[in-house]
Amino acid sequence: MSTRIDIDNLNVYYGKFLAVSEINMSIEPQSVTAFIGPSGCGKSTLLRTLNRMHEVIPGAHIDGEVLVNGEDLYGDSVDPVLVRRRVGMVFQRPNPFPTMSIAENVLAGVRLNNRKISKTDAADLVESSLTKANLWNEVKDRLNQSGSSLSGGQQQRLCIARAIAVSPEVILMDEPCSALDPISTLAIEDLIAELKNDYTITIVTHNMQQAARVSDYTAFFNVSGTGQPGKLIEYGPTKTIFSNPTHKATEDYVSGRFG
Ligand SMILES: Nc1ncnc2c1ncn2[C@@H]1O[C@H](COP(=O)(O)OP(=O)(O)OP(=O)(O)O)[C@@H](O)[C@H]1O
Ligand SMILES: [Mg+2]
Repeated sequence: MSTRIDIDNLNVYYGKFLAVSEINMSIEPQSVTAFIGPSGCGKSTLLRTLNRMHEVIPGAHIDGEVLVNGEDLYGDSVDPVLVRRRVGMVFQRPNPFPTMSIAENVLAGVRLNNRKISKTDAADLVESSLTKANLWNEVKDRLNQSGSSLSGGQQQRLCIARAIAVSPEVILMDEPCSALDPISTLAIEDLIAELKNDYTITIVTHNMQQAARVSDYTAFFNVSGTGQPGKLIEYGPTKTIFSNPTHKATEDYVSGRFG
């Protein structure tokens, strides 16, 4: 399935506060797009509009359009629950459900969606999702242990397995490695590189090397001051953004010279 996202004149608000303004960009199918930029420029906010998690916050709203394969995510007849099934999310802190086993964690999203699933289908789904998340070999003999018995890096891969299990088209990741050690980080980066064959991936990262290693496209956001909205400054192939950006602010940021 090849799924593209077109963001059209998007403004994102918390109540009256305009947090992100006038975003126009397309996220390409089966590739990794990195969102980079200084703290507070609206990366997480924009990411959350891509699966309607933004509006869960009281007072939060948007105007403009987010089209997934041409269909407006915010259309009147669109069910946000279905949107979140198509567009999955992985958070900064690995958040397996602590009272659930490893296997039940993988199945949690599927159960939430009320899908009836036989025991064998469930076992197959657990194995295939954990295999895709590069975690199967490490946990296959302890599937009934608690999700919180895993290391941080394993927990994050478990969360990725949980996201994959509902067969999304797009996976959003908000600083998925920021709580991980360098080895676990590399494991997640390798995994992202494999997953892009099947999914459209957007990742927020503060790690410039990571953006350069893992992404095909990079979007640089900036904010001119407190109370001002975040803006998209420059967007293009990662190679161009890192080696030959158009804007000085982009160059300063990617080279670590940001004030
Ligand atoms: N729940 C909220 N209610 C009100 N304002 C918020 C909320 N979440 C974020 N904001 C504001 O929106 C702006 C963008 O925040 P956001 O968290 O998207 O930035 P970010 O680029 O992800 O930053 P960081 O790199 O620190 O994670 C900031 O001014 C922030 O204070
Ligand atoms: Mg953030």
